[in-house]
Amino acid sequence: MFEDYKNSSLPIERRICALLAGMTPEEKVGQMVMGAGSPERARQLIQKNFIGGYLHAMGEHLAEIQRCAESTRLGIPILFGVDAIHGHGLWKGATIFPTQIALSCAWSPVLAETMGLITATEVRATGPQWVFSPQLDIGRDIRWGRLGETFGEDAFLAGELGAALCRGYQGNDLRHQNAVAACAKHFAAYGDTVGARDSTDSDVSRKKLLNDYLPVFERVIAEGCRTVMTGYQTIEGIPCTMHRWLLREVLRERWEFNGFVVTDWDTVGLSVRKQFIFQNVVEASAAAVLAGTEMAMTTEGFFEGVLAAWRKGEIGTGTVDTAVANLLRVKFEVGLFDDPKKRYPLPEREEIIYCAAHRKAALETAVASCVLLENNGILPLRTPPKKIAVVGPNADDLFAQLGGWSIGAPQGEFADPIHPRERVVTILDGIHSAFGEASEILYAKGCNAMHGTDKVADFFLPHQPVGYLDEPEGGIGEALRIAEESDLVVAVLGDTQSQVGEGNDRSDMRLGGDQEVLVAALQKTDKPMIVILVVSKPHIIENILGAASAVLCAWNPGSEGGHAVAALLKGEINPSGKLTQSWPRSIGQQPVHYDQKPGWHATRFVSESAEPRYPFGFGLSYTSFAYSDLQTDKETYHADEAIRVRVSVKNAGEVDGDEIVQCYVRDVVRSEVAPLKQLKGWAKISLAAGESQEVCISVPVASLGFYNGEGEQVLEAGEFLIMVGPSSENGQLLSKTIAVTTAANHETTEGNTI
Ligand code: BGC
Repeated sequence: MFEDYKNSSLPIERRICALLAGMTPEEKVGQMVMGAGSPERARQLIQKNFIGGYLHAMGEHLAEIQRCAESTRLGIPILFGVDAIHGHGLWKGATIFPTQIALSCAWSPVLAETMGLITATEVRATGPQWVFSPQLDIGRDIRWGRLGETFGEDAFLAGELGAALCRGYQGNDLRHQNAVAACAKHFAAYGDTVGARDSTDSDVSRKKLLNDYLPVFERVIAEGCRTVMTGYQTIEGIPCTMHRWLLREVLRERWEFNGFVVTDWDTVGLSVRKQFIFQNVVEASAAAVLAGTEMAMTTEGFFEGVLAAWRKGEIGTGTVDTAVANLLRVKFEVGLFDDPKKRYPLPEREEIIYCAAHRKAALETAVASCVLLENNGILPLRTPPKKIAVVGPNADDLFAQLGGWSIGAPQGEFADPIHPRERVVTILDGIHSAFGEASEILYAKGCNAMHGTDKVADFFLPHQPVGYLDEPEGGIGEALRIAEESDLVVAVLGDTQSQVGEGNDRSDMRLGGDQEVLVAALQKTDKPMIVILVVSKPHIIENILGAASAVLCAWNPGSEGGHAVAALLKGEINPSGKLTQSWPRSIGQQPVHYDQKPGWHATRFVSESAEPRYPFGFGLSYTSFAYSDLQTDKETYHADEAIRVRVSVKNAGEVDGDEIVQCYVRDVVRSEVAPLKQLKGWAKISLAAGESQEVCISVPVASLGFYNGEGEQVLEAGEFLIMVGPSSENGQLLSKTIAVTTAANHETTEGNTI
């Protein structure tokens, strides 16, 4: 019976069938459309197209649109999605966490899950039930504008953190008031577009996809992630939105995904206008739906296109019904049909957003995300200097502090594009509050993060915060003046939002504007200098290293970043973050990642080493950790077992600290060239000064396999080298060889398909 869809005691699948049976073709296809824009625009779309999804509407705007949807014949509620990427950044005054790359440097699923839960809570307070996160692209080339949105270069780490973030968003039950549906994006291989040019082609084979770029999605889908967003890019010339193998064979058949697939912004239309592979939107819409796309984000003409193709018989009724069923399933699961509260913003939202508990979590995350890159012993600052000169473009810059996907960043249009000043603790604020009583603090911006002439892209210009327009008062001269009269210089350097995100790929990754000149000038004062990097991603910092007594990378640390940095400078907390993206010496080294495949000429360039400045997994502490006694529980393992790796770690210094113990594995001889090491496990431990701990990391033997050219997953018997240590750097790793046999009860040297 049609009305059964309203009966919350019936199983969801039955309710979906009942509803589908009563829907007109237009109502069905309407569910596949996602709109954007003003309530007026929404009203038109609802009345004309019966749209199923909407993005970036929140608060009263959202409520107005939802009421309009409820007044239609079937009253199917709209699912509202928002880019809440590291906190609910597009809501004015929300709690902003460090960006995804920063979060990854904490190597903490617990912190990732907490960030997810808090973000979901703040998002729900303003209405939406869906977030376009986690971002599961693998970081490859730092020139890419969006590298800071990734979890870095390692697929295993990204998968675990993505799964944790997803757990935080979705909880155990999507119907819960604070739960939102997550969205794994940008399916797939977006991080590997040619030359780091955003949205172009990822020229990657199926084998590479299977080995390097799909496992992270598989992990997060296995965690229960309910939606997937196709990327802008093409894979070997096929747009992801029309990639049947990716969407049907891999996602639906192999991984048994039963949520829904949404496109990125207008990818259906762009396949006509920018990729030139269809004559018109009707053709493009049909191809997208046939390939397995279920909801189109903002494409004009998609609604009409799908209906036309359906009427012509190019798309079957079964295909449309399955797509709509997948969409409705998620709507039922999040409770949209049954819980009126779940459809609207919460009246008590102001008490929820930016509350003390959320700020505390943002602070904890920011502290754990910072990576200490250099320290000649100047840090921590146990005795406060008499006078501190704080200089640099990012010392007191809200936008750089909060990072991409927050108001003011390139991606959102806002009438008043700035978060409330009192809700952002800049580095300067943090230093004031931590050192202000004992030290005199002087401040001069010195220079901008970018010259006006550096700006070439005009993609987002009108509402973008720009770090270069007004030359700071006094310029470098003023910075020098205050440095001369101080005992310590803290130079806060980095990039600006105009150099970050979509449309903002870079060809040069040195610090912009006059920052290198500023540092060189400051160096002449002979004052000790600590550099804090407020950056969206690794930069080329070779020209400033000689001048700095210490370098702390704070990334875009979010609302509480200033407090986090100050606590680390003071030594109230010991830095523990470790890099998740190899930090290159020069832009010519790109791409450089620790799990590149070996060759014999690739170990150096003519003019420099091929090794990055700081390797994957690297980060300093105020203490030192000694590793010894690497053991495994057995010498030979079967495919269905786990290797229990044990190592003894001692805090050999004088202060307490956290350590990230990393376990890499190498297949000693493989029939296809393999990376010389791949991260297979890690443990984060806290050790008091002098304390030792035996750390145990479990590595499933099945995770040591790979995909061959036929797309089969293979585990080859033989020796595997287990390496454990504080980073991916060879000299620091203890190692031990174990054997894997692929036959359950008898020896074999053949490869076995798992
Ligand atoms: C981005 C996505 C984002 C979407 C909606 C696109 O331009 O690539 O990451 O979720 O816009 O804002």
